[in-house]
Amino acid sequence: MGALLRVTGLRKAYKTPAEDLVVLDGIDLELPGGSSLAVTGPSGSGKSTLLHILGTLDKPTSGSVELDGQNPFGLEDRELASFRNKRIGFVFQDHHLLPQLTALENVLVPALVGAGVTPEAESWGRTLLERVGLDQRFDHFPAELSGGERQRVAIARALLNRPRLLLCDEPTGNLDAHSARAVRDLFLELHREQQNVLVVVTHSEELANAFERRLALRGGSRGGV
Ligand SMILES: Nc1ncnc2c1ncn2[C@@H]1O[C@H](COP(=O)(O)OP(=O)(O)O)[C@@H](O)[C@H]1O
Ligand SMILES: [Mg+2]
Repeated sequence: MGALLRVTGLRKAYKTPAEDLVVLDGIDLELPGGSSLAVTGPSGSGKSTLLHILGTLDKPTSGSVELDGQNPFGLEDRELASFRNKRIGFVFQDHHLLPQLTALENVLVPALVGAGVTPEAESWGRTLLERVGLDQRFDHFPAELSGGERQRVAIARALLNRPRLLLCDEPTGNLDAHSARAVRDLFLELHREQQNVLVVVTHSEELANAFERRLALRGGSRGGV
């Protein structure tokens, strides 16, 4: 089977007044559907940079990224936004929920960009919130939820469009050990069900060990799996 996500010779350098700061220097990845990868490394080693590039939120300096056989960086802006919305789910370290929307409305945001909130989308949004254990919290605003609950809403939102690639930047970094484990189990369960590619940045050895593969970054590093 071909790789769902293929990364070849990925390089990222930031231009600074003093020098070109090389953050990623030759990353190769081949991840088939259903595979999971933990990205580890010390602070500043380029974990978020890699995730942003995989999520098409930032461009590589050189090298290529292919998702489902398509090069997202060859698309023009509007097509790229639609590609990202359909194929990629992103869970940020801070949940990035909209404070004026309820939990259910937040989960449905990705549908607004696409076909609109159809009855099917709304029903799937409710199912996802039930799956993350928030069936009693549909109408709560983010300020009325705990940190772990907000993170679980963000996960449900990332899954609404059934993305082929799910990216998570330290999704359990702000959670206590118990909530972190619950969030990890949920990720893995939904990942197995949907056979997507799951890439998770984490500082936690316990979390990293739950994934099939690991990419350890060291800053300006080469590497691959
Ligand atoms: N826009 C930018 N311009 C210049 N340097 C940046 C920029 N974004 C990140 N960096 C630098 O790139 C390195 C990697 O950052 P990052 O990917 O956020 O690391 P991590 O997520 O592993 O902590 C850091 O040294 C950071 O200071
Ligand atoms: Mg980071």
